[in-house]
Amino acid sequence: MSTKTRIPIHVKVSTQSILHKVDFNNLPFGKHHTDHILVCEYKDGQWQDVHIKPYQDITLDPAAKIFHYGQSVFEGMKAYKDKKGDIWLFRPFENQKRLNISAERLAMPALPQAYFMDGLCELLKLEKDWIPQTDGSSLYVRPFMFASGAGFHASPADKYLFVIACSPSGPYFSGKIKVLIEEKYARAANGGVGFAKAGGNYAAQFFPTHLAKERGYEQVIWTDDNTHQYIEEAGAMNIFVRINDTLITSPTSDRILDGVTRKSIIDLAKYKGIHTEVRRFTIDELIKASANGSLKEIFGAGTAAVISPISGFGYKGKDYALPELENSYADRFKKMITDIQYNRTEDKFGWRYKVTE
Ligand SMILES: Cc1ncc(COP(=O)(O)O)c(C=O)c1O
Repeated sequence: MSTKTRIPIHVKVSTQSILHKVDFNNLPFGKHHTDHILVCEYKDGQWQDVHIKPYQDITLDPAAKIFHYGQSVFEGMKAYKDKKGDIWLFRPFENQKRLNISAERLAMPALPQAYFMDGLCELLKLEKDWIPQTDGSSLYVRPFMFASGAGFHASPADKYLFVIACSPSGPYFSGKIKVLIEEKYARAANGGVGFAKAGGNYAAQFFPTHLAKERGYEQVIWTDDNTHQYIEEAGAMNIFVRINDTLITSPTSDRILDGVTRKSIIDLAKYKGIHTEVRRFTIDELIKASANGSLKEIFGAGTAAVISPISGFGYKGKDYALPELENSYADRFKKMITDIQYNRTEDKFGWRYKVTE
């Protein structure tokens, strides 16, 4: 048991590391797992001790409510290693808070901050050698919680598991992406769960994304469920557009995830004196700006890809290309954020969090 943490953490170290089997010079995103996982059970109305143990399958009752009613929420974070070998997280308390916002919406129990943070830091210290040091690579961290309690009654479960698994990962996308603006399907609706990181939101995205891929696009740009006129998100990322030198992003709502990368970009843009508008914007506005040459950039923002520049978009059977820019906002924000994440620059905002020995 750890003595430094505020909660009981039991650690069983793996005797058969698979670290040597992974090619760290050629890391896909999210494919490999590390040697250990963290598991914590909620039962009898409270969270039990945290266990860090060798990576292994999880056995569930066939009536576990995750299978039937989809009570499942997750987070996506990264751990970075700097040149000295120190480990860093980026705004981890935002993820911890968001997990509980998501959990509340799905009638799941809140996880106390110490379970999340102390458990995560203990796990990362154990998996230190798994954190890549090469530029663009990091340890992707996936905290998740789901209903393990059983029963076919359509009601919240009485037992849950909180788990953290990690994956040494390279870049999410290899270059710019071409996207399709969605005219029919919606990923979220007013009063729904779009603002939560609920597993079902992603399942609902797969089919429309598959249709877009068949038409030669890599991702879907989600529009509002009511009119399909307003631009809301880019795949599993928040969206930004640059018209002339103004940066525009949709406000968060019931339908839009409050992204950590998004809010960091808004703060960085303000700090750099870039005029930023957080407001709704329409497809018509994009098409007009594309026609008169004022549409300079569109990019997605999220933990996995950091910033994903868009090369062009399709809408109603027509393709619109974006210009190639030197010194784009996308490149500038990506550099500013990753320099903070990898401890290459001063952190004026206090976003970096050191995982101490
Ligand atoms: C739907 C959706 N929007 C936006 C984001 C970006 O959020 P963040 O920057 O916190 O990773 C994500 C990824 O987590 C997402 O799944």
